[in-house]
Amino acid sequence: MPKLEGLDYYRRQTRPTNPFIWLAAIFCAILTVVVIVTGVVVFVGYIVIRPKVPFISVTSSHLDKIYYTEAGELTTQITIVVRAENDNAKAHASFSDMDFTLRFDGIVVAQLVNDAFDVKKNTSVDFNYVVESSPIPLDEQAMALMDMSLKQNRITFGLKGNARARWKVGLLGSVKFWCHLNCQLSFFPSNGSSTYSYCSSRSKK
Ligand SMILES: *[C@@H]1O[C@H](CO)[C@@H](O)[C@H](O)[C@H]1NC(C)=O
Ligand SMILES: *[C@@H]1O[C@H](CO)[C@@H](O)[C@H](O)[C@H]1NC(C)=O
Repeated sequence: MPKLEGLDYYRRQTRPTNPFIWLAAIFCAILTVVVIVTGVVVFVGYIVIRPKVPFISVTSSHLDKIYYTEAGELTTQITIVVRAENDNAKAHASFSDMDFTLRFDGIVVAQLVNDAFDVKKNTSVDFNYVVESSPIPLDEQAMALMDMSLKQNRITFGLKGNARARWKVGLLGSVKFWCHLNCQLSFFPSNGSSTYSYCSSRSKK
């Protein structure tokens, strides 16, 4: 190949630009503008709407009944109020696949499930779960813990699970995410009242 030098080299390099290169350049420019405009719209939308993430919490609970036999069988009834809260003045929220498990020392006491439901703007929805267990045989470790709990007048159940939240933020579209709930519900067995401790899917432990 002959070596190109001086003006000859310059001419070769400045021949008319291929139309495909032009198309690509225009396409890139348009894409850049679209990305910037989308960013501005989302940002302004965020500032105007000020979205607050919907969440689930346990607002109250009560130990209605607790029977514990010599043979180590536990029967209990617990009322749990679960609240789904949407603090947004401009965005609807909906929840689905709500599924929580109540456990004592890792042993499943009951399952709490719910159908899908909507939570309108700036409102909350409460669900009153009256959880009644069938007699549950406890293992040795759980029996020891139960004996101690009753003696010390303080019993703790774990409530853990997820709900799928869908959040419709006007023009910005909808966002889906999981709410994780992981609560310790403690009660005084003597009168059934709970030792209140707030628990929500927002708080990180
Ligand atoms: C949302 O609800 C709260 C109390 O429930 C109320 O004080 C507030 O004004 C409401 N906001 C809107 C925008 O409706
Ligand atoms: C239940 O019992 C506990 C401890 O005995 C006590 O601190 C609490 O105030 C009682 N609650 C009610 C509602 O009586």
